[in-house]
Amino acid sequence: MPVLNRINEFHDELVAWRRDLHAHPELAYEERRTAAFVAGKLRAFGVDEVHEGIGGTGVVGVVRAGGSGRSIALRADMDALPISEETGLPWASKTPGRMHACGHDGHTTMLLGAARYLAETRRFDGTVYLIFQPAEEGLAGAKAMLEDGLLDRFPFERVFGLHNWPWTEPGRFGVHGGAVMAASDEFRIRIEGRGCHAAMPHLGRDPILAGSALVQALQSLVARETDPLEALVVSVTCFNAGDAYNVIPRTAELVGTVRCFRPDLRERAEERLRVVARNVAAAFGVEADIAYRRGYPATVNDPELAAVCAEVAAEIVGEEGILRDPPPSMGAEDFAFMLEQRPGAYLWLGQGGAEEGRLLHSPFYDFNDEVLPHGVSYWARLVERLLPAGG
Ligand code: NI
Repeated sequence: MPVLNRINEFHDELVAWRRDLHAHPELAYEERRTAAFVAGKLRAFGVDEVHEGIGGTGVVGVVRAGGSGRSIALRADMDALPISEETGLPWASKTPGRMHACGHDGHTTMLLGAARYLAETRRFDGTVYLIFQPAEEGLAGAKAMLEDGLLDRFPFERVFGLHNWPWTEPGRFGVHGGAVMAASDEFRIRIEGRGCHAAMPHLGRDPILAGSALVQALQSLVARETDPLEALVVSVTCFNAGDAYNVIPRTAELVGTVRCFRPDLRERAEERLRVVARNVAAAFGVEADIAYRRGYPATVNDPELAAVCAEVAAEIVGEEGILRDPPPSMGAEDFAFMLEQRPGAYLWLGQGGAEEGRLLHSPFYDFNDEVLPHGVSYWARLVERLLPAGG
């Protein structure tokens, strides 16, 4: 695998950093040790500027070379998950109930490796912003950094992300020319009925029956209102009501998620969910109180930049290592907030392990250290390609 030689030379150090981070996982916005680790390494590598405390625990390193005004940003995420690790590995989490089960330890390590290479070699012309963000897992650390003035302070023109992918073999990159990950929204529907004796249902208004009808009716948004060639998921994931066998309760609560790629579909799904919930409730003589929260937008690559990323990745793993336009994932990713602001691309870095159960967010997951040089080489070459020295 023709990874950059200089990067292969410090593969052992990359592995050591990755395992250190893995052993010390921290949850969203609590990444204090991790952020200090990152900032310390960046300073040791001699990057030009290190900024901490952006959007909470975010860190930005700045590396400059030459005199051009061009700039790009590379982004990694630093947070772990509230999962108890069961790998039994020597570098397993030392904190009960906390685990790097999504490989953000690997992402942070690869961007650190790139920082070291870029600060040392500086074979580019422009400014590289190395963004280490907090809270990718559900709490929108990318958005927090943007709201904390990320773009004002570090005015990058294009932005790139990388995520390990256990469903793709090591040594391959998945590159999408458009949508990569879905938008993710959350709904809570509180159904207000009238409680009564279970033996005299006609005296009350049963929120459980209304809720059951609603669970089914909501699937019509997918099955009967959406083009079958478009992706939409509506999942009811909690249905809470009642606590006695002989009492019809007063309320029920349904919680769930809506996933899709297209903004117009997202708008329509919310609007239709509200209409269906209100009207099903009306049909059963109960009230529906609907809270709908927009989560992450869809992660959508710029097709031209994605094509450049594919060429750069092919320099490392060969053309046969590029998986073009694999089916996108209905999972979500807060890098989407950065791609809403600036064009760029988010690639999947194959690492294998899915067949052995090392899936993202599983207690048996571990980042595959074998692919660290691929990721670092990709970052390094991407910078040299997009900010060419003497170009
Ligand atoms: Ni992740």
